[in-house]
Order: sequence, then structure tokens, then C-alpha cells
Amino acid sequence: MMGGNQGHNHNFITSFPLEILQKDFDGYKNSSPIAYERKGNTEIGNDVWIGVEAFIMPGIKIADGAVVGARSVITKNIGPYEIWGGNPAKLIRKRFSDDVIEQLMKIQWWNWDIDKIIDNIDVLASGNIEKLREIKAQ
Ligand SMILES: CC(C)(COP(=O)(O)OP(=O)(O)OC[C@H]1O[C@@H](n2cnc3c(N)ncnc32)[C@H](O)[C@@H]1OP(=O)(O)O)[C@@H](O)C(=O)NCCC(=O)NCCS
Repeated sequence: MMGGNQGHNHNFITSFPLEILQKDFDGYKNSSPIAYERKGNTEIGNDVWIGVEAFIMPGIKIADGAVVGARSVITKNIGPYEIWGGNPAKLIRKRFSDDVIEQLMKIQWWNWDIDKIIDNIDVLASGNIEKLREIKAQ
């Protein structure tokens, strides 16, 4: 759900966004409070896998390497390499140990030159973190 809007402000007496009627009503002044709650940008990190029909609420930040389960409703920010699922989505588990996640976040392979990525597809499409570290060190 894009646009940065959480939706109609349901803390008001009416949840209907009356300001949209201003142009239709004589005497209705442009002074009504904004009835849409702003949640800011939705941000999706690098190498994030979003399962089919997942729903991501406005303003949510999903960090690098995360996985969103099919048909999940994401209402909270997701950390790096975390797998979330359900409605409302909960943390299922992390993809790797905290130590490995820390290394992956330092390596940031997605910022490599495309030639380097192509040369190392076999390593990226494996669980060989040690080999990945060796490549980074080269
Ligand atoms: C989230 C996902 C990646 C987890 O896969 P996994 O690591 O193999 O996890 P498991 O199947 O072992 O399930 C682990 C737990 O998460 C739960 N779970 C898995 N997927 C879930 C989902 N989409 N929503 C809610 N819960 C989910 C399981 O019920 C299980 O719960 P339990 O530990 O209480 O028994 C996978 O289930 C998924 O949704 N993949 C997306 C598929 C898809 O959309 N493919 C098409 C696009 S490529």
C-alpha cells in the first residue's frame, strides 16, 4: 500500500475525510485538519524476497535480505535477514546466525560491480559464507 497514508483518521469523530468535499460545498473553508494520517515512505531493502500476495502497510521498512511469507500482512518493520509471516506477521526465524548476518551486511554483495556478481554466481547461490568472505577480501 503506497502513498504514505495510513488511511482515514479514525481518531476523529468521523473517519470520513471531509476535506475532499471542500470544492463541492459553498462556505466550507479550507481549514479542516488533514484527515489522512501520514506514515512516510515504504522502504524495501536489497535482496528482499516478498511472497505472493503479501500486503505491506504504509511506511514499513524492510531491511536487506529479509523474507516476507506468502499472504502475510506486514504491520511492523522487518530487520535484516529476518523471515516474517502471518496476519499480523510475526518473526518466524532469521535466515542465518547473527554473526553471519553481520558479515553479510558488511559485504553488501549487491553493491558489487555486475561483472563481479556474474563471476561469483556459484558462491552467491550457495550457503558458503566463508567463500564469500574470501571474495570480499580479494
Ligand atoms: C515464509 C517462507 C519463506 C517460510 O519457508 P520455510 O523457511 O521453509 O518455513 P516453514 O515452512 O518451515 O515454516 C516455518 C513456520 O512458519 C510458518 N509459515 C510459513 N509460511 C508462512 C506464511 N506465509 N504465513 C504465515 N506463517 C507461515 C509455518 O506454519 C511454520 O510455523 P510453525 O513453526 O509454528 O510450525 C514460506 O513459507 C513462504 O511463504 N514462501 C513464499 C512462497 C511464495 O510466495 N512463492 C511465490 C513467489 S516466488
